[in-house]
Formats: sequence, C-alpha cells, structure tokens
Amino acid sequence: MVIEIAKFGVEEWLNKWEKEARYDISQSSIAALTLKELTNLGGMTVTAFFEKLSSKELDYGWIEGSPTFKKLVAKFYQKIPTANVLQTNGSTGANMLALYALLNPGDHVVTTFPTYQQLYDIPRSLGAHVDFVRLEEAANWQLDLEKLAAVVTPATKIICLNNANNPTGTLLDRIALERVAAIARKADAYVVVDEVYSPLVDSDDFVSIADVYEKGIATNSLSKTYSLPGLRIGWIASPDSEIVNLFRKYRDYTLISSGVLDDELAVLALSNRAKILQRNQKIVIDNLEIVKKWIEKEPRVELVLPKNVPTSFIKLDIPEDDYSFCVSLLKNTGVLLVPGTAFGVPQHARLGYCCDKKTLEQGLALLTQHLRKFDK
Ligand SMILES: Cc1ncc(COP(=O)(O)O)c(C=O)c1O
Repeated sequence: MVIEIAKFGVEEWLNKWEKEARYDISQSSIAALTLKELTNLGGMTVTAFFEKLSSKELDYGWIEGSPTFKKLVAKFYQKIPTANVLQTNGSTGANMLALYALLNPGDHVVTTFPTYQQLYDIPRSLGAHVDFVRLEEAANWQLDLEKLAAVVTPATKIICLNNANNPTGTLLDRIALERVAAIARKADAYVVVDEVYSPLVDSDDFVSIADVYEKGIATNSLSKTYSLPGLRIGWIASPDSEIVNLFRKYRDYTLISSGVLDDELAVLALSNRAKILQRNQKIVIDNLEIVKKWIEKEPRVELVLPKNVPTSFIKLDIPEDDYSFCVSLLKNTGVLLVPGTAFGVPQHARLGYCCDKKTLEQGLALLTQHLRKFDK
C-alpha cells in the first residue's frame, strides 16, 4: 500500500523562491565550501586533485562507500564497527532507506511536531500510522519525555527524531536521549535519529543514538556541519548488524553507490574534519552573536536560541500571515526566510543565520525595515 505523499513544505518553498533571493537567510546549511577551498584544505590545488584521479575508472566504485570513508565515519561513534556504516545519498537518502526498509502498512510511528517533514510523511506514505508529540515554544521547544512515553506503545515500530531539530535548533542532550532509549527499549521499538545538525560547539552535550541504544539508527551527512551539501554524501549507522543487513538489501534497490568522485571528495573532507569544524564553529558563534544583538533591538521577533546548530526558528509578532509576509519580504527587499507554515507552525519563520556575515547583516537590517511597516 503506497499512499500519495504530501508536498514537502520547506523544499517546495525553497524550489519556488530561492533563486530570487538576494539575501538568502533561509538555508539551514553553513556557508558552503567551494571545490577550491576543499582541495586546498587537503593541501592540493583543484588541478592536482583531479590530476591524481585522472586515470580512475568511473565505474560504480565502492558499493557501500570506500573502506576509508567507512572507517572515518565509524570513528565518530563509540559502538559502531566499520561494517555497520553504509554510505547514502545524503541524510535524506539515509532517512528514506531506514523508513522504507523498516515500515509496513499499519505500523505505528511516533515523532515530534514540528520536525523534518520526511520523518512523518514518508511513514504515512508507506501506510504507517503516525502519532506526534508536540514541541512547545513555551517549553523552549524541548521534547516532553513524559508525553513521549505516553504515546509510545508496545505496538510502536519506530520513534523518529531529528537531533538537533529542524526548524527549532534545539537539542536532546545525552540524558534526554538515554531516556528516549529507555522508552523505546520497553516497547522494543527502533529509534531513527537524523543527526545532520550535530552541534558545532558544546558537543559534550551531544551523543549519537547509535551509541546509546542497541536498536538505534543514526543518519547523517556532509551537508550541514561540513558545509558540503553539493556532494550528496551521507550515511546510516547502527550497532544492530541485522538491521544494517536489511538496509543493504533495500539499498541495492534504491542507490547502488554514491559515485567515485563524490566518495573521493567526501574522504578528503572527513580527513580534514578538524579544519572544517574550526571554520564552521567560528561562523556559528559569530553569526549567532549578530542574531542575538539583532533580536535584542527587534520588538517584533522572539527566538529560542538554537544550540549552536545552523537552523533557528523566529516568532513573528505581526498582523499578517507568515506566508504572505515572507513573499512580500522577498519581493520588496530580496530577503528570503522560510515561512513557519512550511513546517506547519504559523507566525514563525526559519532563519538560517550561517550564511556569509555580510548577507546576514544586510538581510537582518532589511527584515527590520520591512517589519517597521506594521508600526504605523
Ligand atoms: C533534518 C534534515 N535532514 C536532512 C536534510 C537534508 O540533508 P541531505 O542534504 O544530507 O540530504 C535536511 C536539510 O534541510 C534536514 O534539515
């Protein structure tokens, strides 16, 4: 049973408007690296990098990702053997793989609202029944674990989470995640966590589900924390070898491999991880400071500060709906946000503050100007 899938709110919005933006402060990645910057991090020019690869056959390459890629990724976890890492087409590909492989019609899935739409609309399209635990702004968008425990039943197949959460930017720390694992263990449910926004600072707070739960499934990619969404490289990892074998089976039908060149570039990025993280920590810290100062002076905007991750969700105190506000903002100023409606949360907007500093500063200044029309 396949049910027609809903439109993907945030992607639909971005596909329609992002090319018109002059000040794009909507995106949830950290300012992307250029090919030159990436090869330079590895001490090579672009020419030298491609020269080195020039006699490489463009066959399917390593099916699960190269051994080096898998080894570099496995090192991020405490309990994941290299064999239990599979390369995917981004984190979206990893989420799709997990959900497609695990779910049957009638299965029960629990997730939060808001969250990344993939995590509930793919299950629904596969015929699963999805229950939500609502994240409340008054509770700083933090997951209420008692509410979660009340919704999970012995019939629950998967708890799906996004940690840190898009759009709110809030984090489930180690203690909270261990409690999620305990709730799931009681129901013998899997926990799929999209960890594409692992935080760049205070990372002691962050732990992967793959390291706290034996039926935990972590998905991740190079798109956000590593500033390389154009590579389309992600991965899925679990300590449960049986489930990884199931993913292998489904992956043969949906991907085969991620391509020789992308794998090479991914290995280059992961081998220079510390340099990329250093660059990106600075962007997150500096730009968050700009946002904090802006919020202090902007009476029509409130924000639960994101946990050093590049997505944030502002509340708009305006007498207009968020969708038409965001359209008129773009048309009049060239500034792009994502309306909260795209995440099912009206009167909010996603502010992607990890673009280049100038774009952020000019974008926020123009947003302020545009908000002043409501003061008259
Ligand atoms: C939670 C979440 N997962 C996955 C993605 C897409 O990631 P990728 O580029 O790795 O497919 C996004 C992008 O916005 C996201 O917010």
